[in-house]
Amino acid sequence: MIKRLMVLGVVVIFSLFSFSAIAADGKTKAVACFACHGEDGNGSAANKLWPKLASQNAAYLVKQMKDFKHGPARTDATMNSMIMTLADEDFASVAAYFSSLPVTRMSVDDKFFELGQKLYRAGDTERKVTACIACHAAKGEGMPAAGFPALAGQNAEYIAKQLKDFRARTRKNDSNEVMRNVAKLMSDEQIEAIAHYVGGLH
Ligand code: HEC
Ligand code: HEC
Repeated sequence: MIKRLMVLGVVVIFSLFSFSAIAADGKTKAVACFACHGEDGNGSAANKLWPKLASQNAAYLVKQMKDFKHGPARTDATMNSMIMTLADEDFASVAAYFSSLPVTRMSVDDKFFELGQKLYRAGDTERKVTACIACHAAKGEGMPAAGFPALAGQNAEYIAKQLKDFRARTRKNDSNEVMRNVAKLMSDEQIEAIAHYVGGLH
């Protein structure tokens, strides 16, 4: 029994160590990204269209890096050139670094709360908008294994831009058009409310 516990202890220590070693390596590779995404992964006060990467699911981050570089194209002039500075074999460690950091929460203005919460939890039966909670989870943490990203704490401006890009089909790297099909049913008012609401989820 004691021997088994010791083996377990060694395995746990080893996996903690190897995880932080990967994240630490990722930090050295991510220096060029800090200007916009922050060394702490929480973006920058200079521009709220630069998303937070902190706490985002690592597999989702890797997918976005691949899509910016190789497709199915996620088109953004800044990121399409920035990602060229990173080797493909460093995607996983850079993602592990940002994913390991805590995301800062936003406060939600009362005028967005009610509509945002309703849409998030129950969707909109009239416009047939699916409830976001089904995929982005109760606290906005997403479902890493299914490829559903976290939304909690994200900048409202960035979220609104993504929803409008999906709606206009200028962002089209979502498999099976899952987000394009949700966003095309949403009004501008709904996009604004939900974009603010998710920033305060936790
Ligand atoms: C000059 C600013 C800038 C720099 C530097 C930068 N990015 Fe970005 N990044 C952006 C912008 C803007 C977006 C959002 C693009 C959009 O609207 O679709 C973005 C989006 C992303 C996303 C997608 C996030 C999500 O939630 O879908 C990832 C991942 C990412 N960047 C990784 C990186 C990495 C890795 C580096 C360093 C090699 C980097 N970025 C450097 C501006 C920048
Ligand atoms: C059936 C599952 C599903 C539902 C329902 C859903 N989403 Fe998504 N969402 C996804 C997936 C999958 C992605 C990632 C697409 C990709 O790989 O780029 C995503 C991405 C997003 C993004 C981009 C995140 C980023 O960091 O760039 C936003 C914003 C978003 N969803 C908002 C919403 C909102 C708001 C709702 C509810 C009105 C919603 N989603 C409902 C599956 C879903």
